[in-house]
Amino acid sequence: MNQTIDALLGHYSVRNFEDKALTEEELALLIKSAQAASTSSFVQAYSIIGITDKKIREQISAIAGNQPYTVQTGQLFIFVADLARHQAILEEHQVDTAALETSEKWLVSIIDAALAAQNMAVAAESLGFGICFIGGIRNDVGQIAGILDLPPYTMPLFGLTIGHPIIGKEKAKPRLPQDLVYHENAYQKMNPATLAKYDEQIKNYYDERTAGKRVEGWSEQIARGLGRKSRLDLKDFLQKQHLNQK
Ligand SMILES: Cc1cc2nc3c(=O)[nH]c(=O)nc-3n(C[C@H](O)[C@H](O)[C@H](O)COP(=O)(O)O)c2cc1C
Repeated sequence: MNQTIDALLGHYSVRNFEDKALTEEELALLIKSAQAASTSSFVQAYSIIGITDKKIREQISAIAGNQPYTVQTGQLFIFVADLARHQAILEEHQVDTAALETSEKWLVSIIDAALAAQNMAVAAESLGFGICFIGGIRNDVGQIAGILDLPPYTMPLFGLTIGHPIIGKEKAKPRLPQDLVYHENAYQKMNPATLAKYDEQIKNYYDERTAGKRVEGWSEQIARGLGRKSRLDLKDFLQKQHLNQK
């Protein structure tokens, strides 16, 4: 193995940080690392908003379900799918902007943003920081867009909190067996016995991590979490933002 792979395999989300801001140099390095990610057709269709103001962090945290590690942290970044720059350029060049409203362009902006964010996360962990993604901001995308003054052709996707970690007994969370995720040449149907074994492994992981307070397999977690519809305001929000329309 090597240092990069050791860092990737050692990842776990950190939810407890020192109240110590990242330095300007650290921020610049993280943003530079994010921007080095591959980007579809070189469109660079994302923006990153750093939230230094604690009052704004608190507002965002309240929307995200009161996650304290979005307030007490080194920096809170919000990753935004962003086709607004492209819209301005197309208008300037008197090109029809309708193509920006298609599902394809929306997807491109999300993929670009996610790749940049993961680059930032890996860079941060390589520097000894802890990280946690914050999808909770999508509890109310409209309100987040209002707080951040987001223009049309943009959508807030997730937060990324990065800071000096206060570490407990965290361990890397076991992922699905490779047999379930990696398919050779064509899609393979899931083997229920492999899944059952993984459920047992995750049950033991949670049991140990929560001192018996949570004993739940992965399948149970998925059935509980993904069986209910959520964030149904997204469709209207996207319409308002001229995204994912055709
Ligand atoms: C897009 C995205 C959104 C997430 N949102 C949250 C969140 O709002 N709050 C949180 O505590 N963790 C959040 N997570 C972290 C996941 O829960 C975590 O990555 C997953 O359980 C695997 O654990 P690990 O990162 O420790 O390996 C999010 C992760 C991703 C990729």
